[in-house]
Amino acid sequence: AKLEMFVDELPRMPTVHGYGVGDGGPVTAHLTIGMYLKTWKFHRDLPPTPVYAFGTSKATATVPGPTIESIQGVATHITWENHLPSRHILPFDRTIPIANPEGGGIPTVVHLHGGVHPPASDGNSRAWFTSGFKSKGPTFVSPTSVYPNVQEPGNLWYHDHAMGLTRVNILAGLLGSYAIRNPSVESALGLPSGPDLDRTLIVFDRSFRTDGSLFLNATGNNPSIHPQWQPEYFGDAIIVNGKAWPYLKVARRRYRFRIINASNARFFRFFFDNGLQFVHIGSDSLYLHRTVTSTNFLLAPSEIADVIVDFSKSAKDTAILSNNAAYPYPSGDPTDEFNGKVMKFIIDKKKAKDDTRIPKRLLRYPPPAVHRAVETRYITMYEYTSKTDEPTHLLLNNKTYDDPITEKPKSGTSEIWHVINLTDDNHPLHVHLGLFTVLDQQEILDLDEFKDCMEKKNNANACRWKEHVKRKRVQVPKYERGWKNVFKMMPGYVTRILVRFSMFGSSDAEAGYPFNATGEPGYVYHCHILDHEDNVMMRPFMLVP
Ligand code: C2O
Ligand code: CU
Repeated sequence: AKLEMFVDELPRMPTVHGYGVGDGGPVTAHLTIGMYLKTWKFHRDLPPTPVYAFGTSKATATVPGPTIESIQGVATHITWENHLPSRHILPFDRTIPIANPEGGGIPTVVHLHGGVHPPASDGNSRAWFTSGFKSKGPTFVSPTSVYPNVQEPGNLWYHDHAMGLTRVNILAGLLGSYAIRNPSVESALGLPSGPDLDRTLIVFDRSFRTDGSLFLNATGNNPSIHPQWQPEYFGDAIIVNGKAWPYLKVARRRYRFRIINASNARFFRFFFDNGLQFVHIGSDSLYLHRTVTSTNFLLAPSEIADVIVDFSKSAKDTAILSNNAAYPYPSGDPTDEFNGKVMKFIIDKKKAKDDTRIPKRLLRYPPPAVHRAVETRYITMYEYTSKTDEPTHLLLNNKTYDDPITEKPKSGTSEIWHVINLTDDNHPLHVHLGLFTVLDQQEILDLDEFKDCMEKKNNANACRWKEHVKRKRVQVPKYERGWKNVFKMMPGYVTRILVRFSMFGSSDAEAGYPFNATGEPGYVYHCHILDHEDNVMMRPFMLVP
């Protein structure tokens, strides 16, 4: 039986403060957050689901985990603890590059997505650890991660990043949101604020068995090559803050929503069924310089939108947040009556008093300085298939994670990356530590011919890429023209980005840390479709002084 929609109220995840109170203001706090096996109710009519949940204790652990609130300039130290038993609740695959602990156990490691921090605290995929730190990966440095929070206020999220297990560990529930605030700067903007008006919406898709357990296909599409791995996970229920298709009662006024797409592979194109608009104020981890209004927007896995919705503009008393992004995006199946709906807002009949405002200008950061870029790189996305045309693996620049590091940006500099997507899918490219601006996108002409050349030579210049792209440069939508940490690389296009390593606190946060303690690379860039990242659309990079 299909689950009834809009029967559970939207939960608010517990809040954990990443700072303490000192005499002169906020001071560094030291938190301990564990990962626990417990059950979680995703829907009124669904039996409790075994999950992996983050929490300051097992009793308070939730899916998604607690929201960590930090203050700009005040460091947060977090000791991440793994309390998981040795058997995984989901099937996984040992034929892809994978963390392989001696003596068993479930490897986990936590990455703060969008964070500017030293590599030892970056949650490197090989810095995994099992329950009680019994077994540790080769780049493990310390159980405690240091997040300096030197960057500007905005939205981040934390999630598992263990080698070859990220897709199943996040599916099991290992994710949560993290906000950096600057109370004085942000309150001057006059935006809706406070726990009732400023809500985080963490959206993902999941499938369930009738006993309530999470369903992930145990057999791969290509089982003789990968017994379990599949190129993309899609669930048939849409979950927001841990409830399937929840509802929220709202006053007839403005609200702020920080929307995080925490799906493995599902893109969302959000819109309201009654035409209500979104006013974009932020994208990924930063505010936009100016507000931008839209009636719909596309959010790839791991992207974050920060929007204002004014329910006083609604003619009806309900508004259904909906989705019409094909899956896989862009050339897969169209949405249906289930995955085409996200959640319902029930709007109070009478108009509420509202003294918030939406300023035209928000916060301003340095614009991209193309002429100051010190390096030009080409990052090519390849998909490989078996004889039966089933995907077997995906690579960046035809290199696996274990191939020697090829990207060694200098701390504090900018680079131009041409991301050449030779596949049929849109891949959200995420760069750790760095922030980037999308400059433009150009369609590749004679794609097959160019692909052949690239497969032979793996060199964009040798394949004369400039002769293989349309002159016309496609601009990204206005609400995506700010600084981002992940962006959708269109299939059959060359997307040009200007990446800064990094913009905020670069020399403070990373100087002296080009390597972590074991001499391993500090950071990674990867596709944020988790099933791609795991097999193995991820490369290390190293920052040099
Ligand atoms: Cu959201 Cu490498 O991660
Ligand atoms: Cu991908």
